[in-house]
Amino acid sequence: MKPKIFVARAVFPEVLERLSQHFDVESNQDDRIFTADELLVKAKGKDGLFATPSEPVTAALFAANPQLKAVCNMAVGYNNIDLAAATKAGVMATNTPDVLNETTADFGWALLMATARRVTESEHWLRAGHWKKWSYDSFVGPDVHGSTLGIIGMGRIGQAIARRSMGFDMNVLYYNRSRLSPELEVRANNARHVGKEELLRTADHVILVLPYSAASHHTIGAAELALMKPQATLINLARGGIVDDAALIATLRAGGIAAAGLDVFENEPAFNPDFLGLSNVVLTPHIASASTPTRLAMANCAADNLIAALSGNTPPNLLNPDVKAAA
Ligand code: GLV
Repeated sequence: MKPKIFVARAVFPEVLERLSQHFDVESNQDDRIFTADELLVKAKGKDGLFATPSEPVTAALFAANPQLKAVCNMAVGYNNIDLAAATKAGVMATNTPDVLNETTADFGWALLMATARRVTESEHWLRAGHWKKWSYDSFVGPDVHGSTLGIIGMGRIGQAIARRSMGFDMNVLYYNRSRLSPELEVRANNARHVGKEELLRTADHVILVLPYSAASHHTIGAAELALMKPQATLINLARGGIVDDAALIATLRAGGIAAAGLDVFENEPAFNPDFLGLSNVVLTPHIASASTPTRLAMANCAADNLIAALSGNTPPNLLNPDVKAAA
């Protein structure tokens, strides 16, 4: 008998087909959003769960499903999974690192350019019929080339963003728990490791690419925003909750920083509606990894992990190796 899995969200049909060759699959191609309690029920009798960042995979789900062996997230971030509870319950948890680094870095660049150079703001103005004449100061803003880029969270995506800055002759500062090796710093456009305060005071453009955890909650709040230059921009590519969105809205309203580009929000998709009243924000719906090849690679990577986990092998992207060691 094939192992049973639940695919919690709609996914590429070819990946579903691949999963069906290995598993007895119950899927959600209607793409309903399940609450934590509904998901707990959907997981009943299943050996594996294919999840995305939208699904809360809780301690209660593990407690109610002692048969569950693996939860495989189609995302590099996994703060939707209670990893400590998974480990305690002996359930393997996996993510999809690496396959999305370059696409996400491209999008970080798109957000940075759109935010600093006021692309969406000016387009909305044009579409609203306001464009009657060229003016020397229409939509002027900061330069990107030659400026100082501050990257908070210098993992593989942060490094891919830094590499792109070479073409823009930028200085790169980064803040990360641990310093990169000298070789990696050179590859990342000679990035210089600094404290968070120095980065926030010095950078012209700050990009956030650190993972969300209790420790990184509100890494950027009112106090941090107050350190930034009034001409600076802030880009959040990481996760909602890393920025205190209410504090950011207040700072943007008061002109404390020039603009923000946001792909992720607290409580998304029900983000703070006050953002909509601000012209100096670029808002996108959590799409940094959304190129077709990358999303397909992420889905296949999650499938690879599930196939390995449920056939007695170590999944390539196991987040809690203690589970495998204890098995
Ligand atoms: C997307 O947000 C991811 O974590 O992959």
